Amino acid sequence: MLEEQIKAIINPKYPLITNLSNVSAVLNQLENINWCGFYLSSEDGLYLGPFQGEVACSFIPFDKGICGRSYREKKTIIIDNVLLEKDHIACSSISKSEIVTPIIKNNQVVALIDIDAPIYNRFNKSDAILLENIAHLLVDLF
Ligand code: SME
Repeated sequence: MLEEQIKAIINPKYPLITNLSNVSAVLNQLENINWCGFYLSSEDGLYLGPFQGEVACSFIPFDKGICGRSYREKKTIIIDNVLLEKDHIACSSISKSEIVTPIIKNNQVVALIDIDAPIYNRFNKSDAILLENIAHLLVDLF
């Protein structure tokens, strides 16, 4: 179970990047995905964090992308068909659907978990619950 693996590998004494790097490798065990990783909030926007997959956008402004929408709305966003979303930033032409979940600490989004899939309609409510549980496990690292 991914949550159990994540609980086992994270160590709050280690640097954030160290922990998130291994968590991205755990997330990459999910089936039918082509990219998974983190965007980290900073004062001016969202910066790419540890990930697994192809080269991705290094920076996303708060008002752009599905990541920006999840940041602004402070909630999980599921996109069944990214090709129909004008907000979507295409880092890879392989991606067809996407889920983004915020990690929220003291009512601030400190990071986002972003997963892309090479098939349409990949993500559902149970994926949202899984990522929200994982976000909860990670919040104390920030
Ligand atoms: N698709 C995202 C950008 C990041 S990549 O998927 C890795 C978005 O629209 O915010």
